Amino acid sequence: MKKILSGIQASGTSHIGNYFGMIKPMIDMQANNDLFAFIANYHAVTSLNENISEHTMNMAINFLALGLNPDKCTFWVQSDVKEVLELYWILSAYTPFGLLERAHSFKDKVAKGIPANHALFSYPVLMAADILLYDANIIPVGKDQIQHIEMTRDIAIKYNNKFDNTFVLPEFQVDSNVATVPGVDGAKMSKSYNNTIELFMSPKELKKRVMSIQTDSIPLDKPKEYKECNVYNISKLFMNEDELELLRDRYRSGTEGYGHFKLSLLESITNYFEPFYEKREYYLKHTDDVRDILKSGATKASSIAKNKMNTIREQIGLIY
Ligand code: ADP
Ligand code: TRP
Repeated sequence: MKKILSGIQASGTSHIGNYFGMIKPMIDMQANNDLFAFIANYHAVTSLNENISEHTMNMAINFLALGLNPDKCTFWVQSDVKEVLELYWILSAYTPFGLLERAHSFKDKVAKGIPANHALFSYPVLMAADILLYDANIIPVGKDQIQHIEMTRDIAIKYNNKFDNTFVLPEFQVDSNVATVPGVDGAKMSKSYNNTIELFMSPKELKKRVMSIQTDSIPLDKPKEYKECNVYNISKLFMNEDELELLRDRYRSGTEGYGHFKLSLLESITNYFEPFYEKREYYLKHTDDVRDILKSGATKASSIAKNKMNTIREQIGLIY
């Protein structure tokens, strides 16, 4: 069985772009793979200085509510397995400065105003440690992370050149079926653009958000184009082909306006996420259960990490 591993940065809220782009594909993979999923709270230190602890719990609760099954995967918080920091340091010695200098993500983040500190610069080395520590084969990521996986391979090759076959060379997997989920303004849905539909909003907030989706201004009694319509494109994520055909007929009919289509979308979103609310409420009230799940995930991850680090410590000369 292939080992699939991915990290999720702890952030305040998740939106339907995160859900279809990353959360759902990971949850779907737990059935037939050996899945390793962790909350990257050390990585969050590089750009998010406040509320990391709250965000970590929030992200864990969302994953569990949405269907991540801790009995079928290994789910933990990055900082509960300290070996990753030791490997990060050792790998730093196998990471050419020029390799890090070429990282797009570092340049983008600095351009956005995040301070150019050393943790941000060496972020890809910690990511390499996350992956190589567990001998992961496949890393499902968004497009923006591809370069980081390539850097991980480069670092692993450099180390393997000295100590043969120590690290598995990982491959990235980008799901091309999930097109970028558009936001309410039609641009990529992203928390940086303030155009998101968040998961687990109250019914009132959700309605407000859906009704704010931007459309053209073709009047109610004229046929409308669905292909470029943001309401239709978001509906595609929630409706099956029969429902979409019905929706397309309604666009063509010239008897309804965008407000009606938005209400249908609202109903679909509500029905889709409805089953997850109850579980979320449960975990919100039982955070000790969440901690127990994460701690037992960390125990599983730790035993792999400890083994791997023993080999590496011996190779490097840290055992005397
Ligand atoms: P944001 O852009 O809101 O800051 P992140 O960068 O934290 O989101 O992304 C977390 C994960 O969600 C990544 O794996 C990313 O590829 C995925 N993701 C984010 N936005 C979208 C989107 N609009 N469509 C598809 N996937 C997305
Ligand atoms: N950098 C990734 C992101 O921002 C999160 C992450 C941290 C990660 N370590 C990882 C993803 C290891 C895959 C593998 O989305």
